[in-house]
Amino acid sequence: MSEVVPLIDYMINQHREILLSLRHIETLRSKMYEKNIQFDSALFREDILNLDRQLKLHKKLEEETIFPLMATFTGYDGPASFVELEHQRIWDLLEELKMIVRGSDVMMNDTAFFESLTALDNLLHLHIEKENQVLYPQVEKYLKNHFHSQVVKDFQDRFAATIG
Ligand SMILES: [Fe+2]
Ligand SMILES: [Fe+2]
Repeated sequence: MSEVVPLIDYMINQHREILLSLRHIETLRSKMYEKNIQFDSALFREDILNLDRQLKLHKKLEEETIFPLMATFTGYDGPASFVELEHQRIWDLLEELKMIVRGSDVMMNDTAFFESLTALDNLLHLHIEKENQVLYPQVEKYLKNHFHSQVVKDFQDRFAATIG
């Protein structure tokens, strides 16, 4: 990739796909209630594991490319620190959901599953909005203003290596 701004578009597009996956899971939950189907974690397995795959790559891109770049111009006391805390919380919730859909945990009931799902859904919506509205525009501005710098070249290389 020779341009830097498409990298931000790439990230925003991943956000869109993550939100679509969440909506799909929520639709599944509504259908389950409407049709009075008893909770079965297997119903959600494919979607949760798919969301996990999407989030894994996205988190890696942010933590290994976007945040280190931000650290060069804001330091870690900037917006990156609160989003990193949210990443940890997102990850913990996802781990709980994965344990349930894999059936390897004692919490096989729908209450535990839907509590974690609702918390993850709310947090991801807020997190993504903050990144889209606050964090990414800062990164985009920096990239545009430092297009020929070594820092930006290194960032592009890391980004390309991560997406493979
Ligand atoms: Fe993030
Ligand atoms: Fe993100």
